[in-house]
Amino acid sequence: MLVLGIESTAHTFGVGVVSDEPRILADARYSYTPKVGGIHPREAADSFISNAPRVLSEALKSAGISMESVDAVAVALGPGLGPCLRVGATVARALAAYYGKPLVPVNHAVAHIEVGKVLTGARDPLVVYISGGNTVIAALYGGRYRVFGETLDIALGNFMDTLARELGIAPPYVVEGVHALDRCAEGGKYIEMPYVVKGQDTSYSGLLTAALRAYRDGAKLEDVCFSAREVAYSSLVEVAERGLSQLGKEEVLLVGGVAASRYLVEKFEAMARHRGVKLYVTPPKYAVDNGVMIAWTGLLLYKHGVTVEPEKAYIKQRWRLDSVDIYW
Ligand code: FE2
Repeated sequence: MLVLGIESTAHTFGVGVVSDEPRILADARYSYTPKVGGIHPREAADSFISNAPRVLSEALKSAGISMESVDAVAVALGPGLGPCLRVGATVARALAAYYGKPLVPVNHAVAHIEVGKVLTGARDPLVVYISGGNTVIAALYGGRYRVFGETLDIALGNFMDTLARELGIAPPYVVEGVHALDRCAEGGKYIEMPYVVKGQDTSYSGLLTAALRAYRDGAKLEDVCFSAREVAYSSLVEVAERGLSQLGKEEVLLVGGVAASRYLVEKFEAMARHRGVKLYVTPPKYAVDNGVMIAWTGLLLYKHGVTVEPEKAYIKQRWRLDSVDIYW
């Protein structure tokens, strides 16, 4: 079985092709990088439109297949940025309708988790999903990924990007796999920062404000980066550890773009060692947004009969992880 998956929820337009062995046959991507500031949804969507045909044909070419041999077309319908989602949905609907292929609706958050599971071999983990738009602690229970903790305001990745930008050390946000904030934190010393954990939830907006204020008030750049990062990462590890303890899980799986941070992984390694649980980290290449994760989750869904008529494949900008039925 061959499934082609399309990702376009934020800054990446990706097309992946997977088979059920499982095997990755193609992984073509285009990434939008804003010239200044943060992601501009309409600008990103326009660049997706110009690059979509090239990415699609690149994927088919590297898989060595034509559209005729694809069994189903999967697409991330949410959550994400409206203008960006619409591009992927339009391409997927057109392909499904034109070639008469089943269309499979995929939740982007579920896809991050499933690709992490299949690539690492994690079986029943506590999931820590951290990216530009998400900070979620979740675990599969009763047929759904239940959310056991999340950010009360901005996501961890958004916090890191915004702080780096406001401090004048980004963009680019990530160079050779290291985030600007992690790089800037080297050699820094700890200065007091607000550490906020409420129940099982984290919060980063107060920390962002405090870090910027400290810098304006004359604190050293490396001290601000170090302290803000330590507090942000530690609060996440704390809620994850409590989640493990409450749920009795023996595995923890990091998914999403921020899982690529070596410093965050080190903190999780220390916690996992201390608790005697196994840590799984999604390989950085597939921790960030890509078409492969959509194709793989699409394949799982298609095997369980989940499809949608092209004319009913609406995008869902706020499609929550815990509203999706998991059949496997
Ligand atoms: Fe993502």
